[in-house]
Amino acid sequence: MSTAMHDTIASSGRASDSRVLRPGELDLTHKVILYLEDISVSFDGFKALNNLSLTIDAGELRAIIGPNGAGKTTMMDVITGKTRPDTGKAFFGQTLDLTRMSEPEIAHAGIGRKFQKPTIFENHSVFENLELAMKTDKRVWKSLFAQLTGDERDRVSDTLKRIRLQAEADRPAGLLSHGQKQWLEIGMLLMQEPRLLLLDEPVAGMTDEETERTAELFVSLAGQHSLVVVEHDMSFVEALGGQVTVLHEGSVLAEGSLAKVQNDPRVIEVYLGR
Ligand SMILES: Nc1ncnc2c1ncn2[C@@H]1O[C@H](COP(=O)(O)OP(=O)(O)O)[C@@H](O)[C@H]1O
Ligand SMILES: [Mg+2]
Repeated sequence: MSTAMHDTIASSGRASDSRVLRPGELDLTHKVILYLEDISVSFDGFKALNNLSLTIDAGELRAIIGPNGAGKTTMMDVITGKTRPDTGKAFFGQTLDLTRMSEPEIAHAGIGRKFQKPTIFENHSVFENLELAMKTDKRVWKSLFAQLTGDERDRVSDTLKRIRLQAEADRPAGLLSHGQKQWLEIGMLLMQEPRLLLLDEPVAGMTDEETERTAELFVSLAGQHSLVVVEHDMSFVEALGGQVTVLHEGSVLAEGSLAKVQNDPRVIEVYLGR
């Protein structure tokens, strides 16, 4: 890693220390982990988010559906600090105002995001990828050669089991299937012990079996973690089994069980009208 890049990471880490609670200290009074109220985001006058309000409970597994352009990814951009809302409130737990935090501060506070394109280290083994993700010290080479403690080794093993890559632990990550790479990336997120996981179209390109395994993984993570999953695949959303929020034109159109929202005439019209 270049010195400049390392300096950036180091300084952002320092900035977060004074303002952000440790993840374990997240204030979950009222059981709410994420609170969005009247969020609006405009791009050149076009409202990508339009008075969006949404509440996610601690431990919840929430699916977000909606046609292309509904604002799903923009919503995740707001939660992670990538995009600043023009108006509205965004809180992580009771006290952390996401609109006032930087992207690294938000990540450090316990919000992990999985992007569609995996950002794994292809030339390193699956095990090493998880090891690197665990290290708060982002100096890659130093981390790799430092001895793991027993606890750290156990954490990597637990995660390998969880993402079903035990048999692949010593293989270069670049040799994994598409679905396995996605799981590895999820495992890397888990190594950072996020309280809230944001996953944007996680099963795109996966086989049916990989998709089923991914639903099982997410169901197993709920409770200990909170998950917000954007997905188009309705059989996957059904397998998640949680509450579903339908976004349309930057607002919440409907919310409830999948069966309930699928029978909502407004939802049917939005999907059929396209
Ligand atoms: N950076 C951007 N600049 C301009 N328009 C954008 C930008 N990001 C998103 N949009 C627009 O905002 C709308 C919502 O996009 P997005 O959040 O990606 O929707 P979804 O993820 O639901 O498909 C779309 O019309 C998209 O073209
Ligand atoms: Mg999107």
